[in-house]
Amino acid sequence: MPVQTYDQTWQLFLRTMQYTSRRPDFLPYCTLKPIHDFIEQNKEQVTLDWGCGENNHKLVYGCDKWIGIDRTLEADIYGFPRDVWNTIPQSTAILAINSVHFSPNVYDEVERIITDKLVDGGAMFFTINDTGHAKAALYSDIDKWKKLGTVDYFWYIDDHREQLENDLADHLYNDPTADMKLGATDMSDMYHHVHKLTINQDPFHGRLRVKITK
Ligand SMILES: C[S@@+](CC[C@H](N)C(=O)[O-])C[C@H]1O[C@@H](n2cnc3c(N)ncnc32)[C@H](O)[C@@H]1O
Repeated sequence: MPVQTYDQTWQLFLRTMQYTSRRPDFLPYCTLKPIHDFIEQNKEQVTLDWGCGENNHKLVYGCDKWIGIDRTLEADIYGFPRDVWNTIPQSTAILAINSVHFSPNVYDEVERIITDKLVDGGAMFFTINDTGHAKAALYSDIDKWKKLGTVDYFWYIDDHREQLENDLADHLYNDPTADMKLGATDMSDMYHHVHKLTINQDPFHGRLRVKITK
């Protein structure tokens, strides 16, 4: 399956929700560039997809050695990680997209995962959305993550918020057919709709994204 990468979730959202007047009959797998790069770097290795959902990464990228863990029909290890902890092997990489935020204390959870399930020299890429009790802002202090290893990548949405909002507005307000696509009666409705689901929250890729090498 072809993969299309984007720099920002709002861009991907317009495409996947088909808020575009162009080619609704063709939809590649859409993801963010840093996540795509992490998968490409690790697709031949034993990698845990932590809270894998439908195990889409394994399917799309053909990662035969990957082990998806989730309480989903498509997972390789069926169950929430805390319930199947002892059946989860150590690995050279771990990808956790919008899943560790379900734990009551994300710092403790990530530390435990890195300590128990990642080999020395391995890397973990995880993201956190604002959902339920979890708030990305609670975990946006990079220095705390540095205690767990080398932070190779750190992206927190509020550090980029103004730029994202400007870029989104610039794109939408200058797209002559955007109002028809969303059925919005006014362009600010559309802006707020997309903003709510890609900047205020990011159920796709999280509002905080971190890569730590052990
Ligand atoms: C928003 S989905 C993301 C799925 C997948 N990572 C993706 O990007 O498509 C979050 C997943 O985390 C799983 N989950 C729930 N509690 C969890 C926990 N404590 N630890 C890990 N995953 C959990 C859910 O079952 C759900 O499939």
